Amino acid sequence: MSIEKDFIIIGSGVAGLTFALKVCKFGSVGIITKDALEESATKYAQGGIASVMAKDDSFELHVQDTIETGRGLCHEDFVRIACSEGPARISELIGLGAQFDRVRGAEFDLGQEGGHSKRRILHAHDLTGWEIERTLIEAVHAQDNIEIFEHHMAIDLITRARLDEKVESGSNEDEALGLYVLNHLTQKVETMVGRVILMATGGAGKVYLYTSNPDTATGDGIALAYRAGAKIANMEFFQFHPTCLFHPKAKSFLISETVRGEGGILRLQNGDTFMENYHSLGCLAPRDVVARAIDYEMKKSGDDYVLLDATHLEGYRIRERFPNIYKTCLEFGFDMSREPVPVVPAAHYMCGGLVVDPNGQTNIKRLFASGEVCFSGLHGANRLASNSLLEGLVLSHRAVEKAVALFKDSREEISTVQLIPEWDSGSAVDSDESVVVSHNWDEIRRLMWNYVGIVRSTKRLKRAESRIKLLLEEIHEYYWNFKITKDTLELRNIAITAQLIIQGAMTRKESRGLHYNLNFPESDDVNWKKDTIFQSTPHQLTTQTNLRIVTHE
Ligand code: SIN
Repeated sequence: MSIEKDFIIIGSGVAGLTFALKVCKFGSVGIITKDALEESATKYAQGGIASVMAKDDSFELHVQDTIETGRGLCHEDFVRIACSEGPARISELIGLGAQFDRVRGAEFDLGQEGGHSKRRILHAHDLTGWEIERTLIEAVHAQDNIEIFEHHMAIDLITRARLDEKVESGSNEDEALGLYVLNHLTQKVETMVGRVILMATGGAGKVYLYTSNPDTATGDGIALAYRAGAKIANMEFFQFHPTCLFHPKAKSFLISETVRGEGGILRLQNGDTFMENYHSLGCLAPRDVVARAIDYEMKKSGDDYVLLDATHLEGYRIRERFPNIYKTCLEFGFDMSREPVPVVPAAHYMCGGLVVDPNGQTNIKRLFASGEVCFSGLHGANRLASNSLLEGLVLSHRAVEKAVALFKDSREEISTVQLIPEWDSGSAVDSDESVVVSHNWDEIRRLMWNYVGIVRSTKRLKRAESRIKLLLEEIHEYYWNFKITKDTLELRNIAITAQLIIQGAMTRKESRGLHYNLNFPESDDVNWKKDTIFQSTPHQLTTQTNLRIVTHE
């Protein structure tokens, strides 16, 4: 028996919940989330939301900062949309009850981050993401048209092409009809049918050995959509956050860029500053520059970390402005008001993703995407800090009108539902070798860190390419022989996402923004001022995917 909803949303961060709250006025909504509802990257966002709020700021300046940081690859049309529509979306959040810090209860206390020419970061201390997630969850719980499926993981999209061999996947006739979902409390696979599906699964930091992302960030939306024939762009641009706490037990805990925005200084272990040698903005240079500079200095000195020094700031200000960071550092033995804190870069944000138009529509009809999983053109080759929550809010809002129109169109049409087969696990048996999953997972994360990290070379990328090919074959075989679990699904998604990052990096024969290749150290505007876009070859649900470059736009 299948579950039917008008709108199915995969993911429960800012993008998914914003869309849910808006479309629930038009039809029934199901939110699928593979952990507890609040467990998304949004919850962990510290810095805030970038938006033009101050009198001395302007949309034009926000647009220019975004484009400058994006190193020539931002899509200006969407940059303008995101910057100009930001304040209205933020007012809605405030209307729902979100509280951002203000100076003496009046004007917003706007923060500063790398690449911004003005103070424009709205924040709730250093727990901005949590404040937004809390607000949206409260609003979602107040609706009776939204059903939440926690601990449910999407396995694969059901598309028209997968039911009808005359329709080619990813073509104009193709459309999303539903998905198979693993309920990992019962281990049963459920079929869900929807008139519109929004992919809002977030990022893929778990592709790398060290990441600031939560454990849920396994590239699920990218891999699912790619397997279904959706276009995926610019995966080579993976952002590394320069300052994560260096401590064996800290799981790359993020120390917000806003600490540097308030005056924090990066130093080598001997106390010397170094960022002035790399960029005129020093410690507040865009992230690609800062992460690469730290990587270079660490390799030169052989040190395991650099230092973030905030000891010259007033102690009470640190405790008041960064209560969560201060407390967490203290738990690991560092009082940041008295001593510099050891930091290293870690994988943080996927700038590429599932290609969408300015209304969040993908190349597959009825399939929309928003938030980190999507590629709207906002970030280009390097995301401007705190533009990501903004993107989720703006794009999910814009997707509503189009999604509702499609839903109204499809009321009769979707009788195809009868044709959707129930999940068949064939002759798969329970796995007797779970170690294969953990071993492959570990190998992927290490090879991505070592060969496809902050600094790349053609030789390292080739090594990564051949390893991932073998791993994918092994994972594929394992996947079809044994009953699926959350771990096998995540492993398969991680491997496909890693392959897309590697292929993007191999394809781009230049260095730009977050992609730095020692063999092509310069940017090449003549040949490469364009996006790399991949789409899988036409296939049925059970066959393996092969990469096919469709176009470089
Ligand atoms: C931070 O607080 O440094 C992270 C903000 C972001 O990634 O946009």
